[in-house]
Amino acid sequence: MSAYKTFAIVGFGTTGTLFAKHFAQNKENGLKWKVLSRSVTKPELQEAASQGAELAAVDYDSQTSLINALQGVDVVLSALRDGGLEEVQLNLARAAKAAGVKLFVPSEYGRNTLGITEPYLISKANTHSLLKALNLPYALFFTGLWPSMVLEPAYGSVTGINFDTGKFSLFGDGTEPLSWTAPEDFVPFVYHLLTTLQSSQLENAVFQIEGDRKSFKQIIALWEKKTGRKADIHERSEEEIQAYINAQEMELLRFIPRQWQHGGMRVGNESNKLWPEWNPKNSKWEDLFA
Ligand SMILES: NC(=O)c1ccc[n+]([C@@H]2O[C@H](COP(=O)([O-])OP(=O)(O)OC[C@H]3O[C@@H](n4cnc5c(N)ncnc54)[C@H](OP(=O)(O)O)[C@@H]3O)[C@@H](O)[C@H]2O)c1
Repeated sequence: MSAYKTFAIVGFGTTGTLFAKHFAQNKENGLKWKVLSRSVTKPELQEAASQGAELAAVDYDSQTSLINALQGVDVVLSALRDGGLEEVQLNLARAAKAAGVKLFVPSEYGRNTLGITEPYLISKANTHSLLKALNLPYALFFTGLWPSMVLEPAYGSVTGINFDTGKFSLFGDGTEPLSWTAPEDFVPFVYHLLTTLQSSQLENAVFQIEGDRKSFKQIIALWEKKTGRKADIHERSEEEIQAYINAQEMELLRFIPRQWQHGGMRVGNESNKLWPEWNPKNSKWEDLFA
């Protein structure tokens, strides 16, 4: 039986939408879920409401607005991103404390960000510091890279991974293993842990979940085997990697090269054993090229 009864999903993008769907698919557990968003008129949110979500429009600059929306909420599940991870998520944490929220789950779902100082992700570490200062219990979920970050041509092509053309420009030799977990797989896992573990097992805990572990070279070899095509691989030299970084305006693209080159996106997988039945079928590279 779940230690918590009422959950607030904050931000209705990729992750927030999947969380809302998962709550709707598990109505028999008798849990309540609400979605906090800047605009509740989005058609997708109206659909979530028709499936059982309560909706709350919020103004992240107003503590009153956030505290009102979080009344009676046990767990905040933040699914914010980018600008939403800065002052927005900090305001949310302050409001959660004031509203009596029992557990705060900040928006993570990537590399281990404990103590991270990289500009792209420092806001995640700032949230951890605030949660500790507020003495608000939290749970962190690190899951590695999303396969869509390289499978979607719009993302893949800017980093040099292009399965359409079969051309691959790697950061270094591409042999460093990285962790891969798709949101469709970590969302059910996070839900499972939040609704089955005791609060003492969740409070201030760090979970590392991994759907697959593969280097770029291993992924490309699998792609060749599955498609029968021959990859055109270029290993960027140190000079080329630095030139790529220097040319980028987006902090994300300045962050990625060294992470991929040196395995920074590798998380542990010790939390996988907490749900042995988990089947991360959206994260297994063997199946992604089927
Ligand atoms: N490891 C990886 O490969 C990887 C890849 C992608 C994302 N991630 C991580 O996963 C987490 C969730 O990302 P996502 O891709 O699901 O996010 P997303 O689709 O971009 O959605 C984030 C939502 O947050 C709200 N939001 C965004 N900017 C905001 C702002 N400035 N102020 C207030 N609200 C704002 C919006 O919701 P409303 O419009 O409903 O208010 C938006 O839909 C993030 O921590 C991200 O870093 C990891």
